[in-house]
Amino acid sequence: MTAAPVVVYGATGYTGRLVCAELARRGVPVVASGRSPQRLAAVVDALPGADVRTVPAALDDPAALRRVASSAPVLANCAGPFVRTGDPVLGAAIAARAHYLDTTGEQAWIRRVLDDHDPALRAAGVAAVPGMGFDYLPGDLLCHLVGAPIAPLRRLEVGYHVDGFGMTRGTQRSALEMLDGRDVAYEDGRWRRGGRRPTRASIVFPGGVGRRRVARYPSGEVATVPRHVATREVAARISTVSVAPPALAGALPVLAPALSLLLRTPLTRLLDRAIDRLPEGPTEQARRAARWTIVARAEGEDGRVRRGTVRGPDVYGLTARLIADGAQRLADPAYDRRGGLAPAQAFDPRATLDGLADFGIAWSVEDAG
Ligand SMILES: NC(=O)c1ccc[n+]([C@@H]2O[C@H](COP(=O)([O-])OP(=O)(O)OC[C@H]3O[C@@H](n4cnc5c(N)ncnc54)[C@H](OP(=O)(O)O)[C@@H]3O)[C@@H](O)[C@H]2O)c1
Repeated sequence: MTAAPVVVYGATGYTGRLVCAELARRGVPVVASGRSPQRLAAVVDALPGADVRTVPAALDDPAALRRVASSAPVLANCAGPFVRTGDPVLGAAIAARAHYLDTTGEQAWIRRVLDDHDPALRAAGVAAVPGMGFDYLPGDLLCHLVGAPIAPLRRLEVGYHVDGFGMTRGTQRSALEMLDGRDVAYEDGRWRRGGRRPTRASIVFPGGVGRRRVARYPSGEVATVPRHVATREVAARISTVSVAPPALAGALPVLAPALSLLLRTPLTRLLDRAIDRLPEGPTEQARRAARWTIVARAEGEDGRVRRGTVRGPDVYGLTARLIADGAQRLADPAYDRRGGLAPAQAFDPRATLDGLADFGIAWSVEDAG
C-alpha cells in the first residue's frame, strides 16, 4: 500500500528540511510548502529521487494555504515562531479537514491550539497536536506515566537538562517569544499568570549529570499535563547550563525576570535581527552529539511519590522522527481522536516511548516512597 502524503509547511527551515528528509526516507510522499519558491526548490534538490513536490503558499494567502492543506490528510507545521505564524496554517488545516501537528516549543501557542482552536477542530472532525518535537512529547508522556498511577497529585515537577543543545536560529527566535514572562503557572488546580519570580533550586539528574542549578522553564507541560493527569500543581525547570553560557548560567535564575521585561520592549526586534546573523543551526555532527535528560517527580495527595527519567540524543533529529511518526499515525484512517490534544492524549504514552528505543531513547519510572 502506498503511504498517504504529508504536507510540511515551513519545509525550508532547519527542522522542516529534516522532517522532509525523514518522511522521504520512509517512502512517504511529501508536499513541501512555505513562502519562498526558491528555497522550496532547494529542498527538492537536496532529496534526489524522493517523491517531493512543492506548493508555495504565503501566510497572508488563505486560499493558497487551504489548497496546500487539502492535498494530504495531515499537515505538519515547522514554521515558527508559532505565535506569529500558527493561526493561518492551523486555520487552513481545519478548513481542509486535515489533521495538524507542529514542532512548537511555545507554551502560549500550545494553549491557543488546545483551548481556542479546539471547538473548530472538533467540528471539523480532525486532531491537532502541538509540541510534537523534543519539546514536549517525551516530557509530556513521562509526566503521564509518572503521575497518572498515583493521581490525584499534590505536585508534579518536570526538569530538563541538555548537553550540547546548539540551538537553531528558529529556536532562538521562539525563545524570545517564550521568555517574555507571559507564560502561565499551574497552581492550586488552575492556570494563572506566572513567571517573574526568581527561582533558586537544583535538581539531581541521573546518568552522571548530577546536581544542577535550575531555572523556571515556560514549558509546554505546564499547559498540557493538567489535561491528562489530575494534579494541583505542575512546575517545569531547566538546568541553567542547558540554555546559558557557563559564565552567565549561575546568574540566570536571578536575571530571568528582568530579561522577560526587557523582551517586551523594542529590544526584541534588535535581537531578532542579531539572530539573522548567526549560523542557521548546529552541524550534523554537533546535532547528533547532543544528549538530553528529562526527569519527572510526582507527589500524590496521599503522600505516595513516583519519579521517572527519559534520556536520548539529537534534539532536532528526534523532532523530525517524532513528526514523521506522528504524521503517519494520524494519517491512519483508523485514528479516531479529535480536537486539540496533548501528546499523551493523542498517542499511547508507553507504546510511543518504547517505540523510540531504536533512536537511542531509554525511559524508566519507579515508586519512590
Ligand atoms: N519542539 C522542539 O523541540 C523543536 C525542535 C525544532 C524546532 N522547533 C521550533 O520549530 C520552529 C522552526 O525551527 P527551525 O529550527 O526550523 O527554524 P528556521 O531554520 O529558522 O526555520 C523557520 C521556518 O519558518 C518559516 N517561516 C518563518 N516565518 C515565516 C513566515 N512569516 N511565513 C512563512 N514561513 C515562515 C521559514 O521560512 P523561510 O525559509 O522562507 O524563512 C522556515 O521555513 C521554531 O519555532 C523552533 O522553535 C522546536
